[in-house]
Amino acid sequence: MKKSLGPLTLAYPLPAYLIGSYDPKGRPNIMTAAWSGIVNSDPPCVAVSIRPTRLSYESIFKNQAFTVNYPRSTLATQVDFAGLFSGRDQDKFAATGLTPVASSLVKAPYVAECPVIAECRLFKTLELGTHTLFVGEILDIKADEGLESPQGGLDLTKVDPLVYNSGAQYHQVGPALGKAFSIGRTLQK
Ligand SMILES: Cc1cc2nc3c(=O)[nH]c(=O)nc-3n(C[C@H](O)[C@H](O)[C@H](O)COP(=O)(O)O)c2cc1C
Repeated sequence: MKKSLGPLTLAYPLPAYLIGSYDPKGRPNIMTAAWSGIVNSDPPCVAVSIRPTRLSYESIFKNQAFTVNYPRSTLATQVDFAGLFSGRDQDKFAATGLTPVASSLVKAPYVAECPVIAECRLFKTLELGTHTLFVGEILDIKADEGLESPQGGLDLTKVDPLVYNSGAQYHQVGPALGKAFSIGRTLQK
């Protein structure tokens, strides 16, 4: 028997991304976002829900662009910081020691220390209530050398992405369990 917990913002696993943008004065900024994910294949799109009160909200509208930076678990403290304080009050790159790099395809900075980043142009927005969904068309993914997996794609244990447990703690991902679109076939009669 399950216990009802009410209509919570709960899903597993949740990411903790760093969203990169230039503020209206052209200064690089990052904010932490968990309400996000891949939402389309062609064009490839990632969506991030942002409250209108965030500096990043204005910045993304102004530049029509943002980056999604996938932090390693070792960056949990810096990611938490970027989610606690606004770029209106301080330079979060300087405070965290993270390095902004100008994207090659869009007007937004990415975070050098994140192993994988996505350069996005603003594709669509949707007002949902407390948050506005920013759908970004992924124009390029840039990844550090040496992250490839012999099984194809990137090796998740090498990428070591930060995982967020809503309203609670940060986590690391565990070991690989089996090949996707493959191990399920063992149940086919
Ligand atoms: C783990 C975590 C997840 C967060 N997720 C979101 C989110 O998905 N959307 C949002 O608008 N704010 C989110 N925040 C809060 C913003 O990151 C925070 O308000 C930040 O200071 C905004 O920065 P800015 O004003 O420089 O844009 C999150 C904060 C944390 C710590």
